[in-house]
Amino acid sequence: MKRVLIILLILTTGGIKLSAQTKGKKAPAAKPKVVTGAVMANGKKIYGQYCLACHMADGAGVPNMNPPLTKTSYVLGDKTRLINIILNGLSTGEEIDGETYTNIMPPHNFLTDQEIADVLSFVRNSFGNNAGGILAAEVKTLRAKNTKK
Ligand code: HEC
Repeated sequence: MKRVLIILLILTTGGIKLSAQTKGKKAPAAKPKVVTGAVMANGKKIYGQYCLACHMADGAGVPNMNPPLTKTSYVLGDKTRLINIILNGLSTGEEIDGETYTNIMPPHNFLTDQEIADVLSFVRNSFGNNAGGILAAEVKTLRAKNTKK
């Protein structure tokens, strides 16, 4: 009987320990490390300066003129395509998630690699978006490829 009690005691305390452990553990980070608070703050600043006038403070864009940045396949999809839009602009009257827009997106290649990386990391983690961050090195590689062409 004593033995049973001891085993029970071990089992229950073990159980408590386990549940305490899972409670204390943080949920796995949804965002990769590169999207730090500093990246988000800098990205927001650049967004306010260079993107907000067209894509609006809430990223909703302007109907038929400027597309939204809320969960579009461009924002959340292929990083290469996304970075290239910032570097080269877009004026093909692209159909973006079923709508077309009359305005043009001017090239923003005057921004530094870090600025482009930060603003895109910000956009990919704002307005309901949740996607991996973009590194300055990724922008640098693409910029070099573009000028070679
Ligand atoms: C002068 C207005 C203007 C400015 C400034 C501007 N954009 Fe755009 N952007 C557009 C337009 C218009 C399109 C669509 C062009 C087309 O369809 O050919 C577009 C397309 C895009 C797209 C791809 C489509 C989508 O909606 O997902 C992204 C991403 C984007 N812009 C991000 C940005 C970011 C980030 C900045 C700031 C660095 C910025 N834009 C600055 C007007 C602008």
